[in-house]
Formats: sequence, structure tokens, C-alpha cells
Amino acid sequence: MISETYAEEIEGILERYPNKKSAVLPLMHLAQQEYGYMSDEAKREVAVILDLDPTHVLSLTGFYSLFHEEPTGKYVLEICNDLACALRGADEFVEMACRKLEISVDGTTEDGLFTIKTVMCLGACDRAPMLQHNLKFAENLDEEKFDQLIAQLRLQAESGDDEPSVVQRITAYAKKDG
Ligand code: FES
Repeated sequence: MISETYAEEIEGILERYPNKKSAVLPLMHLAQQEYGYMSDEAKREVAVILDLDPTHVLSLTGFYSLFHEEPTGKYVLEICNDLACALRGADEFVEMACRKLEISVDGTTEDGLFTIKTVMCLGACDRAPMLQHNLKFAENLDEEKFDQLIAQLRLQAESGDDEPSVVQRITAYAKKDG
């Protein structure tokens, strides 16, 4: 339960909002970290802590691509294939990425490292093909750059020298003074 695992962080987050309902997104990140995805339990728990209707958390889960309704790999590669990116080869890029990782869209590699998702516009239309992973953008991609990115992420995962997760960033923020 996030109310136990992240009690201190939740307290820090709630102190930063005049209306606790506004803390819904950071709490959803904590819940997703705890449960691996926005399971029914995760959604319910956030709703209870914030006195929200569970359908509100459900709708946010569906709206924001950073929240997942199913378990995912460690790195979620969110490839934009919205119109502007499609005109710059995003669909072919998605196909190539799926072939390389031997998965289909929404699938996860056997080692549990990568999930590929397609998403709507991420605001980098002129730098397509592009993707977002762990809040970072990779832009102007091609097959070679994709291979490099995958190799780099595999190395990070193996060495344990990973970037701060969304939750680590949130908890650092929650613990900051003022
Ligand atoms: S359409 Fe892909 S980033 Fe805008």
C-alpha cells in the first residue's frame, strides 16, 4: 500500500498543495511504482487518500500515456505516430522498433526491459521519428540511433547505474524544503 510504503513522501507532497485533490498525479506515479501499473487497487488507493471518485483516477490513467493499465517493461518506449510524425516516417519506425525487439505494439520483451507503445503528439513534431522513455525524449531517430539507445539502456539496466525514476524525482521534490 502506498500509504505505508510512501507515507513520508505522501505527507511531503500533500503539504505542497492547498487542495489535496491536486496531488493526484504525483500520487498516481507512486502507486504505479508500487504496483507496476495502475491496477484497480492502485487507482482505488489513490482515490481513497485524496477523497476522489475512483472514476476520476481511472479517467486520468486513460488520458496520460505515462500511466499504464497493464504491467510494462522497465523502459516504456512511447513512440509518437500522430499525424505530423507519421508524415516523417513514424509508422515505419514503429515497425522497425517492433521487429528489432521482437515484440508488437503494447508488447514487452521477454527480459522485461522494454515495452513499445504508440502515443499521440508529444510536442516534438519537427524532430520525428521520436520517442519518450522515462520522461526523456530521443529525437530525429533512425535505425542506427534506435540500436544505440537500446544498447545504452541495456547497459544502464545491467550496471544498475540508472537514471532517477519518476518516483525518485517526485520523492526528492517532496522532501525539499519550502
Ligand atoms: S505529432 Fe508526433 S510529436 Fe507531434
